[in-house]
Amino acid sequence: MCGIVGYTGPQSASIPLIEGLRRLEYRGYDSAGIALGTPGKLFIEKKAGKLSNLENALDATLPNVHSGIGHTRWATHGGPTDTNAHPHVDNDEKLAVIHNGIIENYTELRAQLEAKGHKFSSETDTESVAHLLSDLRKEHEGDLTAAMRDAVKALRGSFTLLAIHADKPDVVVGVRRNSPLVVGVGKGENFMASDVAAFIEYTKHAIELGQDEIVTMTPTSIEITDLEGKSVKAKEYEISWDASAAQKGGFAHFMLKEIFEQPKAVADTLIGRLSDNNQILLDELHMSADEIRSLKKITVIACGTAYHAGMVAKYAIEKWAKIPVDVEIASEFRYRDPIIDPSTLIIAISQSGETMDTLMAVRHAKAAGGRVLTICNTNSSTIPRESDAVLYTHAGPEIAVASTKALLTQIIAVYLIGLHLGQVNGSLKDTEVRDLYKELLELPGKIEQILETVEPLRELTRTFAHNNTVLFLGRNIGYPVALEGALKLKELAYIHAEGFAGGELKHGPIALIDQGTPVIAILPAGHEHSLDEKMLSNIQEVKARGARVIVIAEEGAHVEGAEHVIRIPVAPALFQPVLATVPLQVFAYEMAVVRGNDVDQPRNLAKSVTVE
Ligand code: AGP
Repeated sequence: MCGIVGYTGPQSASIPLIEGLRRLEYRGYDSAGIALGTPGKLFIEKKAGKLSNLENALDATLPNVHSGIGHTRWATHGGPTDTNAHPHVDNDEKLAVIHNGIIENYTELRAQLEAKGHKFSSETDTESVAHLLSDLRKEHEGDLTAAMRDAVKALRGSFTLLAIHADKPDVVVGVRRNSPLVVGVGKGENFMASDVAAFIEYTKHAIELGQDEIVTMTPTSIEITDLEGKSVKAKEYEISWDASAAQKGGFAHFMLKEIFEQPKAVADTLIGRLSDNNQILLDELHMSADEIRSLKKITVIACGTAYHAGMVAKYAIEKWAKIPVDVEIASEFRYRDPIIDPSTLIIAISQSGETMDTLMAVRHAKAAGGRVLTICNTNSSTIPRESDAVLYTHAGPEIAVASTKALLTQIIAVYLIGLHLGQVNGSLKDTEVRDLYKELLELPGKIEQILETVEPLRELTRTFAHNNTVLFLGRNIGYPVALEGALKLKELAYIHAEGFAGGELKHGPIALIDQGTPVIAILPAGHEHSLDEKMLSNIQEVKARGARVIVIAEEGAHVEGAEHVIRIPVAPALFQPVLATVPLQVFAYEMAVVRGNDVDQPRNLAKSVTVE
């Protein structure tokens, strides 16, 4: 939920720190600050508001020193003010700490520390750590690493912490528990950050850290130890994408860039997934044919947009593999005592791999004996590392808070899983799998076709800019699409939007329809049960009550009652979400632009919600 970066090396530290924070600002942006390792007394500057406020405060008198820590915040304890911004310091202003996560026992710590004479200035949980570390460092005769070890033993909650002290300013100490931290190994310089985007332009050589592992970093050394001080072998890896991938590439916003990257993201996620003899290749599932055939239930756990991908999974897996699928909101899952046993496959879906609600649900499922497969877009993130298997999507870095290309690739991933399970347990013939996979391969081109007609849609959207309520209707596999369209509009345009199953409208929500209420209806693809006709009736019902109706429909589909029809290419019914979602993403994007909102960093949100 916050962006964290640390640097030590030959550069003037403020440069890689500010650049790193800019790359991490999507993680939280209600205040920002840095601490520089000026010998004797740290240089501290921190400001409420966007990173630019901090940059404006850093004038030419910035000390030219070579180490430091930086933080961009999504407030949990204490509002977004200069005082509550990180870093937080001890009373000597010689030790600074930055933090991502929540310290659950900070109030009792604060009381103990105030009783010992420490003076607090902020409302944050983090400041308790600064004073605690200061005391512990003195007990360990200046050893900040040993102090961090004892501090971690005293803390409850989830956290990533970085600390620096003016007596040894070229040393940065970090630790992580349930919250992301990765080390960037440079030449004569080293980095720590919440994710690799912060330092990828300097190095692609990284080290992943395990729970409660402490890093002591200097320009020429990186030591990793556990809570007992024992050395831990570094798990090194090469970052697979480059800095340009994390740039806007000429688009006005990351979100628009990522919408247009969807054809490639889908194509990349599909590459090499069908063998010459028409077998879906998913070795990473690490499940034998017998284990797959013994599956009695699948439970999907996820949050937000990823949850909508999970809803699509239910339709696809039940249809192709005939295995019952439950879809659970991760933050609700573990509190209802779910029934889990070895015959249950848990599928966790998470773009960031750091969502705390999903992580805690995964832990609960594993503790109960379930096998966990994660679909994730971020290599080496926490949730995949704690799962039995991971299927990485290949969407590339998704910077905009509003998830777009990650969603489509998550849906592709659940299709591949459904096809694989159905093929192995005999519910699908090899020829059916071959034909369906061929249809999947057509999707990138079909998304391209939709994106070619995006300008008229953007103009149409602007005619709805004054509306403060928009309803979305879907049926069958279009229902998750309606929910996703509503979520996008909420998080980008800050207006009330709601998705409904079309059949539910008459059971109450239709009372919401007023003169001019915009309703966006996803017309089911040519479908048994005449669901398209039922949706056309829903359209007439809302139109009769004054609604302005936009319909998303396949080319050639019969439509009545719509003020506008947005056509999407024909595809098998189960694949419609991959196509029907795209116009809704563009609709929400344009509404945000027209309303002057911050598209890539919408208010109150963060890209990765690493608190429960
Ligand atoms: C989607 O647009 C939102 N940013 C949010 O709902 C997001 O999907 C959710 O927080 C889950 O994130 P994850 O996929 O990284 O776990």
